[in-house]
Amino acid sequence: MREVVKLVIDGKEVILPVIIGTEGEKGIDIRSLRQETGYITFDPGFGNTGTCRSAITYMDGEKGILRHRGYPIEQLAEHSTFVETAYLLITGQLPTLEELTRTSVYLNDFSPLHENMKAFYQNYPSKAHPMGILSAMINAMRSFYPELLDIEEEMNKTYLRLISKIRTMAAMAYRISLGERVVYPRPDLCYCANFLNMMFDNVVVPYQLDDDLIRALNVFWILHADHEQNCSTTAVRVVGSGKVNIYSTISAGISALWGPLHGGANQAVIQMLEVIHRNGLTINECLLKAKDRTDPFRLMGFGHRVYKTYDPRAKIMKKMGDILLSKLKRTDPLLEIAQRLEEAALKDPYFKEKNLYPNVDFYSGIVLRAMGIPTKMFTVMFAIGRLPGWIAQWKEDVSDPEMKISRPRQIYEGSLERDYIPIDNRA
Ligand code: CMC
Repeated sequence: MREVVKLVIDGKEVILPVIIGTEGEKGIDIRSLRQETGYITFDPGFGNTGTCRSAITYMDGEKGILRHRGYPIEQLAEHSTFVETAYLLITGQLPTLEELTRTSVYLNDFSPLHENMKAFYQNYPSKAHPMGILSAMINAMRSFYPELLDIEEEMNKTYLRLISKIRTMAAMAYRISLGERVVYPRPDLCYCANFLNMMFDNVVVPYQLDDDLIRALNVFWILHADHEQNCSTTAVRVVGSGKVNIYSTISAGISALWGPLHGGANQAVIQMLEVIHRNGLTINECLLKAKDRTDPFRLMGFGHRVYKTYDPRAKIMKKMGDILLSKLKRTDPLLEIAQRLEEAALKDPYFKEKNLYPNVDFYSGIVLRAMGIPTKMFTVMFAIGRLPGWIAQWKEDVSDPEMKISRPRQIYEGSLERDYIPIDNRA
């Protein structure tokens, strides 16, 4: 028998169906509520609102579980590559060797940028943030690659074109911002190696590709590949629901990611650690500031809407930071501050009561610094990683017969009706 809930509103009983997910998650289907009762639900920030059914990512915030298409993030981080995980997210299945090879061939074929797009870069102010450039460039792709045929094969190519070109665009933005020559993608290199080479190769000192760094970058991007209905993914679904093209939709996702409460947190964490280091703040002073409601300071990289325990991605990221630094025989004073901050925060009653733990961004900046990625590029690195997730969620959304244009309601709290006053009569 189908599960239902009964709601009594103004003495009238309303019966609402319950939707049950494969992991037992339950949601009350309130689609008929307004029609039957005149009431809507009120949930700023959508903390209790399900907006779609999805088969892509499963999270349990209480237990610290994250799975893509059923596969635990720990196993993907250990055994998979970023390209394979992207394929899994978008198609729902791990690829065969032949499918993976074909995907890599397309990624290589699509990697150069249209020559005219390069002119855009040259004209951006030199201090422009690469996230602003990236969202504009992805939106511009609609004009350069307009053939969006609604045929599965063509759309699959469009997804790969996006995944391939975003990497070239990101590296190019960095090189141009330094006033350096652009390095073109090399067909003999895999996805991650190609990116590192485009970022760091130099005529004078050719870039030495390192297998451990390439592996670390794969893991970094796997850890960012999808995270169900977060702020930028919701932006993608909302913007896409108006049936705009996929490039503009992804561009909206990039803009949403930029904010410091979301993907911009990785840059904000490093900036916070640098301030602590430079000004010699004690750990206690930082925690006091973070707990003070009158102080806008927050412990960046801590807390999460869904995780009420340690973010499983943060555990892997922290370990990777340690491994990378010891391999490179380097120390990072910011890592030491981060570790002391974490230790103190996890013992502090405020953070304990509110279940505030490190999230993926707390240690990701340490990993990126070890790879030589500049701070300004951190959120771009997040965006490259999240792209397959956005594509998968967009694809699921546009093929879902239940989906409608996103159009929430509101509770109006403004003036009641009043008559217009001509300007000469206004006080
Ligand atoms: N430092 C100090 N206090 C905090 C923090 C923090 N980092 N995070 C949450 N709190 C407090 C907050 O003040 C609130 O206190 P109270 O109940 O007294 O009002 C309580 O904890 C609940 O926080 P919230 O802001 O209502 O929770 P939220 O679910 O709306 O926000 C968050 C989640 C991630 C935006 C927030 O924890 C935060 O601002 N963290 C720092 C930014 C950050 O690291 N963002 C990256 C998130 S992970 C990457 C991603 O997927 O986007």
